[in-house]
Amino acid sequence: MEEVRLALIGYGNVAQGLTQILLDEGDKFARERGLRFLITAIADPLKGSAFNEDGLDLAGLLASVREHGVLRDIPGSSSPNWDALEMIQNSPADVVIELSYTNLLTGEPSTTYITEALRRKKHVITTNKGPIALHYDALEAIARLHGVSIGLEGTVMSGTPAMSLGTDLLAGAGIQRIQGILNGTTNYILTQMESGKSYAEALAEAQAQGYAEADPTGDVEGFDAAAKVAILSCLVLGKTIAFADIEREGITRLSVEDIELAKAQHRHWKLVGSLTLEDGQVKASVRPECLADDHPLARVGGVTNAIVFTTRLMGDVTLIGPGAGRLQTGYAIIQDLFSIYS
Ligand code: HSE
Repeated sequence: MEEVRLALIGYGNVAQGLTQILLDEGDKFARERGLRFLITAIADPLKGSAFNEDGLDLAGLLASVREHGVLRDIPGSSSPNWDALEMIQNSPADVVIELSYTNLLTGEPSTTYITEALRRKKHVITTNKGPIALHYDALEAIARLHGVSIGLEGTVMSGTPAMSLGTDLLAGAGIQRIQGILNGTTNYILTQMESGKSYAEALAEAQAQGYAEADPTGDVEGFDAAAKVAILSCLVLGKTIAFADIEREGITRLSVEDIELAKAQHRHWKLVGSLTLEDGQVKASVRPECLADDHPLARVGGVTNAIVFTTRLMGDVTLIGPGAGRLQTGYAIIQDLFSIYS
């Protein structure tokens, strides 16, 4: 049995989802894969820190956050008052799981945390779009230099394996175009508006369900989808692109009338992220598109995401699944762990 020690930066929804999965499925993973994943350290700027080198009590962690909103009195653990960097430097983790908030302008502070962890020869897994969309090439070079890996399945479509489908399984099929509904919040809003809700009402619901970013401007103006387009371009198509090169428009200019009119014509407005390879150059955009009913993305509703890979050998390959959510994004981390320790 191999024990894998995990240190978590941030203890929000995704980290709690991961904890729940390990609580429920950890024994099964140990039995079937010979891997025992132990959360040994946590540092969260608001909830505090916790450490136990033999593995923190998972039920105790969830109960503490549920009851107190912070990490307090976890059975058998110490509270070393570490910030994220101190935790990376002091805890004996094999994998640092970076789940701090998304910053699409600079990728900080998470880029600093990831860099520090890689330099200390720790694998890194992140679901954070900022550092990957902005700095993947540099981070990958540091990881390679130190002989460790970066797992990032959860940055696009949460635990729905869109990244590994593109980077591994379809890598030889000649991907020429990618189109996706890559933001759950906007798809939820557009679907709710189709059934008569107002924009404001639908956005408030998406926020209450925990789909939206801390600042929902990132969702509704298309920045979150653009970050995912940049990640797909770099990782799947091998073309690094700057945000400024992605033509971007959000959903805020769509009116209830636009949506009603489309509906009468059996069409659906979707916020579509697209990447097209032409003569070795990539063209990238995020914009609302009014899709005919028979388009593979047209009927994907609610918070669900979908992606269509148009390939030379296989034609269109479509993957539909959750794009956000606590357990769903937590599961992306499990996929990355399995991939690193395969
Ligand atoms: N705010 C994002 C969304 C979360 O709505 O898709 C997942 O990246």
